[in-house]
Amino acid sequence: MTNIYNFSAGPSKLPEAVLAQAKAEMLDWHGSGMSVMEMSHRGKHFSSIAAELESDLRSLLGVPANYKVLFLQGGATAQFSHIPLNLLQGKTKACYVNTGAWSVKAASDAARLCEVVISASSEANKFTLIPNQKEWLLDPQAAYLHYTSNETIHGVEFNNIPDTEGLPLVCDMSSNILSRPVDVSQFGLIYAGTQKNMGPAGVTVVIVREDLLGQVDAKLPDVFNYAEQAKNASMINTPATYNWYLVGLVLKWLKAEGGIHAIEKKNISKAANLYTAIDTSTLYSNPVRPDCRSRMNVPFVLSDASLEKAFLEGAEQQGLMELKGHRSIGGMRASIYNAMTNEGVNALIDFMAEFERTH
Ligand SMILES: Cc1ncc(COP(=O)(O)O)c(C=O)c1O
Repeated sequence: MTNIYNFSAGPSKLPEAVLAQAKAEMLDWHGSGMSVMEMSHRGKHFSSIAAELESDLRSLLGVPANYKVLFLQGGATAQFSHIPLNLLQGKTKACYVNTGAWSVKAASDAARLCEVVISASSEANKFTLIPNQKEWLLDPQAAYLHYTSNETIHGVEFNNIPDTEGLPLVCDMSSNILSRPVDVSQFGLIYAGTQKNMGPAGVTVVIVREDLLGQVDAKLPDVFNYAEQAKNASMINTPATYNWYLVGLVLKWLKAEGGIHAIEKKNISKAANLYTAIDTSTLYSNPVRPDCRSRMNVPFVLSDASLEKAFLEGAEQQGLMELKGHRSIGGMRASIYNAMTNEGVNALIDFMAEFERTH
């Protein structure tokens, strides 16, 4: 097997132990004689996988009993519209905080369905910080306030849960869910695609407080209706069964690693080492205000942009893959989710130092 370190922003590196277990169980899951891919989603084997998936996620995140946990399809992108479709409930406005490319997308999809109040935006600062939360415009008539806890492209992350003065708080946690403890009871709804910290692409987790599931427009198809999905255990349509299983394996791996507090410690240390390497160099820099820097996605640029190609080629020769920044902003980006090892981050830091020395 070729040993590489995969810094992809998503789909991204999975824990090796998870892939090994999936390989071992591929042809015959637990003596069933079947691959998980072949099982009926309503059969007893898959039902046990689904039940453990939900209970492991609930226990890892500490999801209170008055929240529904859904496993849906369509990515976080589908939720950009499903959230207003489910949560507006007769209201005509929703508040959005724009801190980077993903929150802007969420707000622009919502704008087709309601009046979007931009509560705050860091666009004028090129999305390098989180606007002062004391100055956010909170419209009491809005159905909810939406924000993105980690901006995967711009590398900006919230270190606190915003105070919304009573508005239900909706959060896109796609790229930092399960990387740090979070008090779920402060949220109305949390959603996240699985392809960064939870498994392969193909599943979207929605955690929603039951009292927010009221009347929706009668025209809303059941498959987009959270209350209906909750009633049907997220199986109105045939779910992405194998992906649910893989997400379940990742959750079990995370539990075995010591859970969220243990993984947070590791994440803090990996990110601190990488940012220190960037900040102490003259070749590399990260534009994000230090108190808003992401522990998961670390964008950086080279002071001489003409060296980027050589940097990426040299990195690949060392097995350091997928370091090219998002096409919309360029530069480099190292995504260091839960499954990225200390060794991987250290190998990147060593390569960066060596590249700087020789260029
Ligand atoms: C923060 C965030 N939100 C939403 C998305 C969109 O996810 P998907 O492509 O699964 O719809 C991404 C994808 O990278 C993301 O990072």
